[in-house]
Order: sequence, then C-alpha cells, then structure tokens
Amino acid sequence: MQSTRSASRVIKEIPIVARRSALSGACPYQRRQFNNKRSRHDDLLNYRIFIYSVLGLGAGTALFHGSRRLGFTELHAEAPPAPVEITIEKSKGTKGLSKEENRDVISSQHLQVKRSWENPGVYAWGSNSGRVVAPDSDDSLIKQPRRIPFFDGLLLRDIKLDRDFGAAVTENGDLLQWGIGYSKETREPVATLKGKNITSITISRNRIIALGSGGKVYSLPVSQEDQARGAKLTERSWIPFWSSRSKISYRLIDPQNLGWGEKILSISSGLEHLLLVTSNGRLFSAASSSEEFPSRGEMGVPGLSWTTRPPGPFDQPHEVTTLRGFQIDAIAAGDYHSLALDKEGRAFAFGDNTSGQLGFDPSAESPYIDAPSLLPISRLYSGTNLSPRVTSVSAGGANSFFTIDATRVAQPGEDSNQRIGLGRITADTWACGQGILGTLGTGRWTHIQGTPVKLKALSGLFEWDETDNTVIPIRLKRLSVGSTHASATMDNVTHVRAGTSSSTDSRNDTNWGADVVWWGGNEYYQLGTGKRNNVAVPGYIAPLDSVAEKERAKRTEEHRFQITPRHRVNIGGRNVSMEQRVECGRMVSAVYSGV
Ligand SMILES: *[C@@H]1O[C@H](CO)[C@@H](O)[C@H](O)[C@H]1NC(C)=O
Ligand SMILES: *[C@@H]1O[C@H](CO)[C@@H](O)[C@H](O)[C@H]1NC(C)=O
Ligand SMILES: *[C@@H]1O[C@H](CO)[C@@H](O)[C@H](O)[C@H]1NC(C)=O
Ligand SMILES: *[C@@H]1O[C@H](CO)[C@@H](O)[C@H](O)[C@H]1NC(C)=O
Ligand SMILES: *[C@@H]1O[C@H](CO)[C@@H](O)[C@H](O)[C@H]1NC(C)=O
Repeated sequence: MQSTRSASRVIKEIPIVARRSALSGACPYQRRQFNNKRSRHDDLLNYRIFIYSVLGLGAGTALFHGSRRLGFTELHAEAPPAPVEITIEKSKGTKGLSKEENRDVISSQHLQVKRSWENPGVYAWGSNSGRVVAPDSDDSLIKQPRRIPFFDGLLLRDIKLDRDFGAAVTENGDLLQWGIGYSKETREPVATLKGKNITSITISRNRIIALGSGGKVYSLPVSQEDQARGAKLTERSWIPFWSSRSKISYRLIDPQNLGWGEKILSISSGLEHLLLVTSNGRLFSAASSSEEFPSRGEMGVPGLSWTTRPPGPFDQPHEVTTLRGFQIDAIAAGDYHSLALDKEGRAFAFGDNTSGQLGFDPSAESPYIDAPSLLPISRLYSGTNLSPRVTSVSAGGANSFFTIDATRVAQPGEDSNQRIGLGRITADTWACGQGILGTLGTGRWTHIQGTPVKLKALSGLFEWDETDNTVIPIRLKRLSVGSTHASATMDNVTHVRAGTSSSTDSRNDTNWGADVVWWGGNEYYQLGTGKRNNVAVPGYIAPLDSVAEKERAKRTEEHRFQITPRHRVNIGGRNVSMEQRVECGRMVSAVYSGV
C-alpha cells in the first residue's frame, strides 16, 4: 500500500526564497540561505555559510542543495543561481539596552541557549496516557513541549521513555522511575536503583537495563510491585540482591566468557531482546523482557529459541558468534530487530524484517533472519564514483537508519582531468523499514521499504568553513528514533561564546545552538508541532519555551527550536559541562539537559 501524498509536489510550486516559515517543513541548511532571521545573524558574525551540492561532480559545480532536494530541480535547470545576498535589517528600538539585553532581543536562538543554561531540566510531550510526559497531569495528550517540574535545575546522564513508563539517570548515577507502568499512584519520579553509578540505560517492554560505570549490567522490572516482590519468575532464575539503600530486585546480565579486562561498553534493548557490545568489539545478546522470549531472530544466534536455549538463566547473554572477527563498535535495537556496526564501517542486520527494516532485498520467504547479514551498502552507490562507509546505525520501532560517509574515489579508467574533488566526503543518511506514518523521512508514505532509501533532507549537505576555507560535510550529531517518529540533531556550526571575546564589540554577538528536525508518526502529538498530522519530511518545531516565545513573538516573526551544544556552564555554583539532548520514545518525546 502506498500513498501518493507527496510533499515534493507541493513544495516545488513555491519559490524557494518564499520558504521562510520556521515550521514549514523546511530543512536545516536552508535557513542559512533563506531564513531571514538567522542569515542576518550569520552576517553580523561574519560567518558566510553557503551550502553546496556537489553531486559527486567536483568542486566546480556549486548548486543550491535545496534545488536538488525534493525533486524541484527544474527551478534551476539553466544555471545555478548566485548565493542570495543578505540584507542586514536595521535594528529597531534597541537603544538603551545592555549588551546582553540586546542579544536577547535580536535573537530567539540566543535566548534559547541562555535559558537552557539558566534553567536546566526536561521538556516532554506526546501521549500522556501512562503519565510519562506530564506525571502530574491527567491529560491524555500533551500537545506541546512542557516542562516536568520535578527535573527543574537537574542534569541527567540519560533518559528513556515508553508510553507507560519513564526512566532517567541522575547526575550521580541513580535511577529514577515514573509513569503508570512503575506505579499508578506515583505522581513524580522516584529513585529506585541507587548507588550503582549507572551511566546509561535502555528499556524493553517491561524491564529497565542499566549499565554501570564499571561495565556491570543490571536488569530490573519496571513495575514497583515486581521490584518489591522479586517478580513472577521461578526462584531458580532469580538472584535477588538488596542494595544498601533500597529494596529493589534486579538481575545481573553477565557474559560468562569475557576476556581479561574486557567489559561491556554499551547496551541497546528492543521490546524483548538486549544487545551488548564489549570493549573487545564482541557482540552479545540476551532476552530482556520477562514476558516473552525473543522469537524473531533478533538475538542473532541462529536456531536459538525458548525451547532450544541452553541451560541457565533465561536472560543469560549469548555471543553472536557469526560476527566474531569483526570489531563491533556500535549497536542499535529496534522493537524486534538489531543493527551492528563494525570499526571498518560495515553494518549488519538481523531479526524481524516484516517491514523491510533489515534493509536488504527480498528472499521474501522468511519474515525474519536470525543470522547477522552484511548490508550491501556499496550497492547503494553503484554507478557513482563514491566509496561508502557506514558511520552510525540507529533503530527504533520497525525502522533502521544508517549514516554514511561516501568518499569520492578515482574510477578505473577515469580521465585524469575529470578527477575533481578526490577524497571529498559526502555525508548521507539512509532509511528503511516502515514508512506508512512518514517515519522514513523521505517524503513518501511507503508501507514497507526493504531497500534503504536516501533521506534527502539529511544527505549531501555541506557548509563553508571560513576558518579553513574548505567545504565540509554537515553530518548528524545524533539521531533519536522512537517507535514511529524520529529526530535528528545536526552537527557543526554552533556558537556559544557570545560576549566572551573582548576584542570585538559584542553587542550583536549572539549564541546559537544546533538545528533539530523531526518527522514521522504524530498521532499523539509526539513531534511537538502542536498538530496531529504525520510528517514525512524532516521539519523544525517551535522553541520549547512557549511562554518566553510569546513575549518575543511581538518583536520577531521567526523562530524555531534549536538545541544547546556541549559547553561548560555555571550551574548552582558548579562549573559543569552540559548539553541538551533529544530522546524520542514510544509515542513520546523529551529534551533534557545532559551531562
Ligand atoms: C549591531 O547591529 C545593528 C543593526 O542590527 C547595527 O546598527 C549596529 O551597528 C551593530 N553593532 C555592532 C557593534 O556591530
Ligand atoms: C562513576 O561514574 C563516572 C562516570 O562514568 C566516573 O567518572 C566515576 O569515576 C564513577 N565513580 C565511581 C566511584 O566509580
Ligand atoms: C526484508 O523485507 C523486505 C520487504 O518486505 C523483503 O522484500 C525481503 O524479502 C526481506 N529480506 C529478507 C532477507 O528476507
Ligand atoms: C565543522 O566541523 C569540522 C569537523 O568536525 C571542524 O573542523 C570545523 O571547525 C567545524 N566548523 C565550525 C564553524 O564549527
Ligand atoms: C569552567 O572551567 C573551565 C576550565 O575547566 C573554564 O575554562 C571555564 O571558563 C569555566 N566556566 C565557567 C562558566 O566557569
């Protein structure tokens, strides 16, 4: 089933220069050219950032990337246009303001960065049926970003959200839990597992898996009742531990044959399975739900099932031996599928493929694959002079995303004077899996996408780096994938040192953060657009702090949410390094202040 609704059809009728609305589904790079407000600041700062689309043709051909995107190439069929000259608007009524006041007035971005430093915390929105995004509220939907007051002033190491439960790790490594999945009575986060120095967490259908700083992996039931009772498991498979401060039942997930000094570096859980990668680049998988043993091949161990599993705890880790010899570097688990990336930039997929989330072509017979299979990435670039390397894998729900660095290489027999731009890297993003809600971000509503498709809005972006006088690719800093929606944080060109340099008059020197775009399913308002329609192309949302923005709206017509990159700031008298991060969960979203 394929909907013919296509964003590109609409957009190509609109002259690019008219596309200034922060919420029009425009793309991050466009603002540098076409976004009036931001361009003004770029100019004020003497940053001239032009976006080039190199199309593998070499440096000689500089086009607006935007002209290629979404298929409106015809707009520029004859000749590439000259970069738009930016007009500096006269500042209105800023006389008599202090420098810092002036910065606030002229820039929404500046104000956003400042607020994120002055008032760290968590914004959340989307489905609230499980009282996760607004634990103190009985509203079933939170349509716009809203703060969870409990977290005001707090920095977190991690946060993970399901529709029915939330989990976060405090700055000192304790676990906080809330939502009806934890307890129907609780109206604010409660510290559960304490004293373990947890660095990151991941969640399954009904358990939280926590990685301690020493590489220990703890698995505990979400529900308060199960934590207190030791859950409905047989006694043999339960190892109860009692932490010194709380009575929480948990289990240790402990691979048996780790080498000397080898430890778990990262974890990622689907609804029923957990992936673990060690410091030696070995991959393990384990059951992570106490309801259902993984049965769709997502463990990556051919033939493994509830009935064939070896003796021992049901959630013992199994090494994914097919990948022995590959140095696994990164992992990502969707609901029922798995992705692994090795140090050489090769990606492997296994598990459920009913939506095409494994990203390779039909053998149609089997709905899932239980042996890790190498993604034939080079096929995606066949016929080009680019050599691809996967730089990150992300998964959520029934979707997979890959970022790829594609390097321009000489082709055999290529005429030497055609060899332009050798070594230049293009950063692309590819998606596969379920697209019916727009989750692929490609502008299409494809039901099942088995072959990865390029997410054009997040591919082939370049910026001019004035420091080095070079064109550099814009990569993604982070990609967070929820069950049906996703968000990408763009890398590069942020500015958080306004007013710190004494050499220039800093009155117009404003801070700005990184661009963040959102797309996919929106039935529960999880995209933060304030509307309910699904969105098939990455787009901006409004700044999180709507109250502050309403004041500002009188002065400026344009603003969008940007995220504050890592920076050392003074919080409560302490000098700490923090950044804002996006977390997309199951029908819910959050932005938190992370250490
Ligand atoms: C700041 O910008 C305003 C216009 O936006 C301009 O009039 C003023 O001269 C600028 N000040 C400095 C120090 O650049
Ligand atoms: C706790 O974890 C942090 C972050 O990984 C680490 O820097 C610190 O040394 C750990 N503390 C202890 C006592 O292990
Ligand atoms: C993965 O899913 C796609 C889309 O349905 C399908 O065409 C293909 O057969 C599946 N791949 C494998 C290896 O089964
Ligand atoms: C952009 O990123 C590159 C490489 O990560 C870095 O060298 C460069 O300084 C960045 N440019 C700006 C303006 O931050
Ligand atoms: C925090 O400390 C670093 C050095 O560790 C220093 O460079 C920076 O200026 C300090 N920041 C604040 C806000 O105090």
